[in-house]
Amino acid sequence: MGTTTTRRKFIKAGLAAGAATMIGRRPTQGAGSADGGPSDSGGAPCVIASGNGLQSTAKAMRLLRQGADPLEAVIAGVNLVEDDPDDTSVGYGGLPNEEGVVELDASVMHGPTHRAGAVAGLRDIKNPSRVARLVMDRTDHVLLVGQGALKFALAHGFRRESLLTEESRRIWLEWKEKLSDRDKWLPPEEKKKELSAALLRALESYGTINCLALDAERNLAGVTTTSGLAFKIPGRAGDSPIIGAGLYVDNEVGAAGSTGRGEANLTTCASFRVVNAMAGGDAPEEACLKALKFVFEKTRLTPRLLDDEGLPRFGLSFYALNKKGQFGSATMFSGGTYCLHDGRQNRQRESAYLFERRNRRLETP
Ligand code: GLY
Repeated sequence: MGTTTTRRKFIKAGLAAGAATMIGRRPTQGAGSADGGPSDSGGAPCVIASGNGLQSTAKAMRLLRQGADPLEAVIAGVNLVEDDPDDTSVGYGGLPNEEGVVELDASVMHGPTHRAGAVAGLRDIKNPSRVARLVMDRTDHVLLVGQGALKFALAHGFRRESLLTEESRRIWLEWKEKLSDRDKWLPPEEKKKELSAALLRALESYGTINCLALDAERNLAGVTTTSGLAFKIPGRAGDSPIIGAGLYVDNEVGAAGSTGRGEANLTTCASFRVVNAMAGGDAPEEACLKALKFVFEKTRLTPRLLDDEGLPRFGLSFYALNKKGQFGSATMFSGGTYCLHDGRQNRQRESAYLFERRNRRLETP
């Protein structure tokens, strides 16, 4: 689709007097999604993931075709990213907390049984999504945190290992040395002034992968896994391990998950909100945009989270899949992508969005 046609798909919706202008890419009406492609898999199976999940959607689809349970399929899919040292937002190689320790959060939810499991602040275990699944299957609980989650993982035979790669350690050290002139950490003289591109990216990073699947029997499942906010206060848990915030599945309706600023989701229960909107008849993309608008309206109550134009200083994205095999995604700012295997092809697609990016830098609050 050409740029001109694409631009025609933007809509403008005025907010309350004095507010910033909201630009939402037109929600899907029947066939057609934000990037002009179909928004319906034409039936199950179907797998959707955040933009860093192309290998995950491929793997999950392979497993679904072999008859795997949809939860097992999506977990195996995201394990590839958890194991990847080059993805600094998830699992092994994830960016650490302010003390240089990697702490991981994850949740899983299984549609047919409406059961869930989660871990938060898990150290030294690179596949928190697998531990979350065991919390679901082998305990009467939903969420284990910190030391308790680690002991539980070790009891189930997980191997303890350092999750900090050389690359993540270097980025963390640069952050420690350069971002305060009031402590005793000093950067090398020749590198004093500028921040590296890797650190600039890290400062905007809430990372995360979300992956949702619909199998041939039209059963749904989902997983969200992350190393969370880079350089967070030790013990900080984001939205990823919280059912209803970073992930929610209702087998009668659909599934939704999120990446981006977890705090914005934690106070809005946004994934639950997306599924609820789909239950009310919204197409997945429309439901994602609605949740983003709600988050934005609530964010306007906290001025420190807004830039000079009155727009959020943070990114946030939603991914959604309904029981009919319709799918969609939306992000706070333009330029976001998601991955979709619709049973025919596996590719990265453009997400709908609420605001044009206009060369803005997002800032970590
Ligand atoms: N959404 C990931 C986090 O905020 O930790």
